[in-house]
Amino acid sequence: SASDTFIEALPKAELHVHLEGTLEPGLKIVLARRHGHPLQNRTEEEIRSGYSFHDLPSFLALYYEGMELLNTEQDFYDLCYAYLKKVASQNVLYTEMFFDPQLHTRRGVPFRTVITGLGRARRDAEKDFGIHSQLVMCFIREMSAESADETFTQALPYLSEIVGVGLDSDEKGNPPAKFAHVFQRARDAGLHVTMHCDIDQENTHEHIRQALEDLGSERLDHGLNVLEKPELLKQARERRIPFTVCPFPNMAIRPGSNEKDIRALLDAGLTITINSDDPGYMQSVYITEAMKMARDGAQLTPEELLAISRNAFNAAWIGEGERSTYL
Ligand code: HPA
Ligand code: ZN
Repeated sequence: SASDTFIEALPKAELHVHLEGTLEPGLKIVLARRHGHPLQNRTEEEIRSGYSFHDLPSFLALYYEGMELLNTEQDFYDLCYAYLKKVASQNVLYTEMFFDPQLHTRRGVPFRTVITGLGRARRDAEKDFGIHSQLVMCFIREMSAESADETFTQALPYLSEIVGVGLDSDEKGNPPAKFAHVFQRARDAGLHVTMHCDIDQENTHEHIRQALEDLGSERLDHGLNVLEKPELLKQARERRIPFTVCPFPNMAIRPGSNEKDIRALLDAGLTITINSDDPGYMQSVYITEAMKMARDGAQLTPEELLAISRNAFNAAWIGEGERSTYL
């Protein structure tokens, strides 16, 4: 299988990372000092030791706790700049980053504060490290369809800063169909569309079906449960739907997944990419470490990892001119 040095040197594109999930314990402490938050008295090790999860709800509880540290334009700048600096050092040339505006606007942080901080970081990181990045705005699926619509309306002045929309957070009882209206608005505005069909969720096959057939999802984030339904698998293969596979949560939520599922997805002829998801909460497993986990699990060869990396550049929501500079 592929060596560490091969994986480290591989030019990479990341398509599944939540910016709020890149908040490292070290930056949490910096932000806590900035805002006089009690977390300033903890060590990184203490914060990290509280991070364990075994399913989506137990992960989301940790993820939501971190939000209260993100308040000012500078906070969002620091969050995004730190992620881009880190992955530029891992030879990530291009990244599409999810963000969750509703987790901030519902606390009174203006949409504009979030998007201007992230935008300034993206431009500075491109200047400083040559990394190109774009934003994918996610809707929080346990919040109402009306809230998602309001959020899309708030985003209208900033649509040139947003390449696509996604759907994340608590999937139980919150099918893609709940958001049909806002996804239609996004498509009409020319945005790309993806959504989470998370690991082993209730009604997962119906959620995958809705994503692919009813909501116009161009990709599936996670989407592992496609393996159990031949007709969905056939459709995903024929449409060459990219799957954004995330080895760390695979391991945490579905033990053995990296051994069995990654090989099964490849054997089924599906188009997969390898991604980090929420590295700040996942033992700082960024894309390089995620690729090593995938390699260790599925015994991936250099040829397979190169093909997986090319899948990500091919699936990226960029123009053909830019794509040709990567491929
Ligand atoms: N799934 C659902 N919601 C999320 C995730 C995820 O992987 N990361 C952050 N919010
Ligand atoms: Zn995710």
